[in-house]
Amino acid sequence: MSNDKIDSILQENRQFAPPPDFARHARIPTAQALSALSERAAADHSGFWAELARRELTWHTPFQTALDSSEAPSFRWFKEGRLNVSYNCLDRQLAQHGDKTAIVFEGEKGDTRRISYAELHQDVCRFANALKAQGAKQGDRVVIYMPMIPEAVVAMQACARIGAIHSVVFGGFSAESLKDRINDAGATLLITADGGHRGGKIVELKAAADKALDHGCPSIKNVIVFKRTAHAVNMKAGRDIWWSDAIAQQAAQCEPVWVESEHPLFLLYTSGSTGKPKGIQHSSAGYLLGAIVTMQWVFDIGDDDVFWCTADVGWITGHSYVAYGPLACGATMVIYEGAPTVPDSGRFWKLCQDHKVTIFYTAPTAIRALMKGGDDIPAKYDLSSLRLLGTVGEPINPEAWMWYHRVIGRERCPIVDTWWQTETGAHMIAPIPGAVPTKPGSCTLPLPGIAADVVDEQGKSITAADKGGYLVIKQPWPSMLRTIWGDHERYVQTYWGKFGGKYYLAGDSARRDKDGYFWIMGRIDDVLNVSGHRLGTMEVESALVAHPRVAEAAVVGRPDELKGEAIFAYVVLRGERPAGGVDTALTSELRQWVAEQIGPIAKPDDIRYADNLPKTRSGKIMRRLLRTIAAGEEITQDTSTLENEAILLQLQGKQ
Ligand code: PRX
Repeated sequence: MSNDKIDSILQENRQFAPPPDFARHARIPTAQALSALSERAAADHSGFWAELARRELTWHTPFQTALDSSEAPSFRWFKEGRLNVSYNCLDRQLAQHGDKTAIVFEGEKGDTRRISYAELHQDVCRFANALKAQGAKQGDRVVIYMPMIPEAVVAMQACARIGAIHSVVFGGFSAESLKDRINDAGATLLITADGGHRGGKIVELKAAADKALDHGCPSIKNVIVFKRTAHAVNMKAGRDIWWSDAIAQQAAQCEPVWVESEHPLFLLYTSGSTGKPKGIQHSSAGYLLGAIVTMQWVFDIGDDDVFWCTADVGWITGHSYVAYGPLACGATMVIYEGAPTVPDSGRFWKLCQDHKVTIFYTAPTAIRALMKGGDDIPAKYDLSSLRLLGTVGEPINPEAWMWYHRVIGRERCPIVDTWWQTETGAHMIAPIPGAVPTKPGSCTLPLPGIAADVVDEQGKSITAADKGGYLVIKQPWPSMLRTIWGDHERYVQTYWGKFGGKYYLAGDSARRDKDGYFWIMGRIDDVLNVSGHRLGTMEVESALVAHPRVAEAAVVGRPDELKGEAIFAYVVLRGERPAGGVDTALTSELRQWVAEQIGPIAKPDDIRYADNLPKTRSGKIMRRLLRTIAAGEEITQDTSTLENEAILLQLQGKQ
């Protein structure tokens, strides 16, 4: 983050008390009520969570042990217990909420569907039976590569119903990324669609899936294809089957498989500081509990709410707050397939108006993009149904926060800025909207039962106000990741290595202000946050060097008003550097190349060619220097240790 930005955040001292109208009806309506909850958690950490698990989950077999830490950092929550996540989301709603709308779906072209809990239950059961007919069974990995349509949720819930482990791959990832994830997980079944609609175009999911399978995914036996666009796709005989055919003969009941609490519910691949994404493995009981209690505490979910989380199911937010949390709470939720700017940047607000959304949750990057459209567009819509707003994925700049508060929330709605990660499964640091005053840009305070702290290099808690350090979690929590699929050692090293196995290292730096409020400052590793999406610099570098003309590449983030961070690549070519450091044809070829290797979100925004990278005499690339140059800031670092100081002019684009 640039110094200017840090300064402006340090000066931020506006506070917004919970609006009395909101607090009056909130589940946790006062600071005192919240303190009572937090104190209970502090007094008996595992007992607190056990009590919630007994109350909020429906068990087939009750658990005896709340937390087993005997093999830390492999933690086991709610041992001996058995349950089924899909049962907890669907079956238990049927008695009271069978006719209630579970999903309101709208496509980009305006097509809508309403699905009740009873219908969703039937859809899930039929599809679960279809999965079994295709050979899927408990413990098998099933990859889901779908557009943002209700069937994506049906597919996830159906896997949960039979104890198969799903791994959703975001539809914006390329065939190569899909292939790597299928192979790492050893998946036997792929669920996809003929395509999806986004930005007025068809996203060619089936074509990408075919390419991935052609390039070698030996473990995949069957592919189920949902017909969404009805444009022509290839269907391979003996391997591919249409969704409608797969469910045609299936019963609308399916006995859930009662799995152990720790049974993996899903894998979700996310970027780390190496070139290889890691398969974050989540549990069944602990994960679902995290999703449920945060729906209650942070989103204050109630029976009459219409909840809309705009995240795609390809990300953790779309798991916890689309596919599982809202359903487990019996809520009505909106799912929208298309882009926020089709037909114009009023689409989200029109959806909020038309479906009477009460709780709206999105990413700062979307808020910033829609803010650019001005105040007049949202002013055209009736947003009076909204009562709570949320953000996630990256720090929100106070200016965007204030716009959200003023123009969308009409100064009535609290804003919950929720800090969490793929690894944490559910919100960790976030305001409880009826009880905690908010400050623009701060995710405020840790939730009850979440032992977050900011520590120094030695692991000592930093108590001084506004001094940055490592964000850590000092006690295990139920919805935490359990391991990295196929690489437990990497799990131990990455998350528990730094402080001798004692604390979970989030990978973010943070500071606390005089009121103890947390302010997230950014990543401490080589992970970029582009429009709220995590990307490893090494992943982009590996993609670039795989191009025949590239000898070396170094990728850094540079601050970007809209995306938070933009991708800046320094490239050394095999052979001559282009004259004047410019080759527009090659630049667009390399951008396209990276899109094919990873996905369009990983396309470098800038590519600069140099004869060499700035290395110390021991051969280490000076990344900090590259970040300074990318940000267009003046170089203040000592560059005398550089092997070739003259390279600086090229890197700065001055030669
Ligand atoms: O750097 C933090 C940032 O996003 C990272 C986690 O990314 P991912 O696993 O993709 O999950 C995103 C959705 C939960 C974190 O390490 N981040 C997430 N939420 C916030 C945030 N940074 C600041 N404020 C937030 N509210």
